[in-house]
Amino acid sequence: MKRIVIVGSQWGDEGKGKITDYLAQRAEVVVRYQGGNNAGHTVVFDGNKYSLHLLPSGIFNPKIKNVMANGMVIDPKGFVDEISKIETPYQIYISNRAHVVLPFHKKIDEVNELMKADQKIGTTHKGIGPTYTDKFARTGLRMAAFINPQLFKSYLENELPYKNKILSDAGFDTFDIDEVFETYQTYAKQIEKHVCDTSLLLNQWIEEDKKILFEGAQGIMLCVDHGTYPFVTSSSPTAASVPLNTGIAPWLLEGSVGVTKAYTTRVGEGVFPSEISGDLAHEIRERGHEYGTTTKRPRRIGWLDTVVLRHAKRVSGLSFLAVTLLDVLSGVKTLKIVTHYKLDGIIIDYVPADVHTYEKCIPVYETLPGWDEDITGVTSFDQLPEQAKNYLNRLSELVNVKIGMFSVGPDRVQTVEIEEIF
Ligand code: GDP
Ligand code: IMO
Ligand code: MG
Repeated sequence: MKRIVIVGSQWGDEGKGKITDYLAQRAEVVVRYQGGNNAGHTVVFDGNKYSLHLLPSGIFNPKIKNVMANGMVIDPKGFVDEISKIETPYQIYISNRAHVVLPFHKKIDEVNELMKADQKIGTTHKGIGPTYTDKFARTGLRMAAFINPQLFKSYLENELPYKNKILSDAGFDTFDIDEVFETYQTYAKQIEKHVCDTSLLLNQWIEEDKKILFEGAQGIMLCVDHGTYPFVTSSSPTAASVPLNTGIAPWLLEGSVGVTKAYTTRVGEGVFPSEISGDLAHEIRERGHEYGTTTKRPRRIGWLDTVVLRHAKRVSGLSFLAVTLLDVLSGVKTLKIVTHYKLDGIIIDYVPADVHTYEKCIPVYETLPGWDEDITGVTSFDQLPEQAKNYLNRLSELVNVKIGMFSVGPDRVQTVEIEEIF
């Protein structure tokens, strides 16, 4: 396959950054297509660890063309901060149709959450929801207008009074048009050289038969359509989101890799059927360093949930699974896997659309024996302890998707390919 998407198959943080970085060793182009700097993608190689929020995970390879496509929402300050830390030569292309996150979007994100009180989503406060709201209300600012001083100024003159009204009504400080304009003009000047029609470029590169990786952010359960609405993000992190959000034809995407942890985590509020607490959750959190890459919040921990993975498979048509953090389960005596849910006494195999019904679902578990061995040095499937092989095999069987690769540590080299994916 020459054009594939890496998607999160749970609630985000599955290791998409790591898997993208690994496969990117053979890619010519890496594309982020939705979300913004709510994402936090960790890439570890040559003894260094990097956290990427907006930049595609191909950014460290000078030969790779990195694209931030039209479906993204881009915080110019976040971009300038992040790109300034990249010390090696890079190629980056930003869509002129991508929407721009401005400081009042971030403030409104915070206000919305405060207003919701105990119903809050637990957003990253990066302005994602308010920026996508503006996009779909047709009151947003696109990169093409942002880098044009007249258009940017007139956008602020038209829109900022409304935003200020929201903020002042909620008792928050308002923003000064000139101040925002001046500050953000400096970012626009630094960004402008990267802004272009990325759909034109991608289509040209596809014609040239280049190998392209599309890097999803978040995960299926945070999808605004297929996730645990309203406890979701404001974009669609699915495979189907790629064509619309990059400007290529749907049939040009050849496959998808669903990244899943060997267990489950969630950061932020909302239903999580297989969640566990106590010593084991604590142990897994510490061993897997399960603290948010973007917000540093402790991640909630749960058993692997194959109802969720089959949901991901249906929606994104997973060609392969990439199973990460398998090493973290070493030493857990008995492993549990959710096979189904029980809802009002009836066995179901789907994710209910409303969270109240979903909260009533009781997971049905199957148990498997764990393993004690340290597997962080394993370089092939055969080297795994029998119990770990069984765990992966059972996971693959329950989801009915082949395991294409698995990962036994954060470093690029701690990745084992089983199938030829890309
Ligand atoms: P992403 O948002 O999907 O890219 O995932 P994050 O980077 O937010 O979170 C995944 C975390 O797990 C990061 O800290 C990675 O360095 C780490 N990680 C990825 N794969 C493995 C693995 O196989 N084993 C261990 N121990 N850590 C891993
Ligand atoms: P990556 O790409 C995990 C969660 C937030 C919150 C909800 C909405 O690293 O997997 P938002 O700021 O998007 O409006 O927050 O979505 N969330 C993530 N959780 N990984 C992410 O990205 C996330 N991006 C957003 O915690 O619950
Ligand atoms: Mg993350």
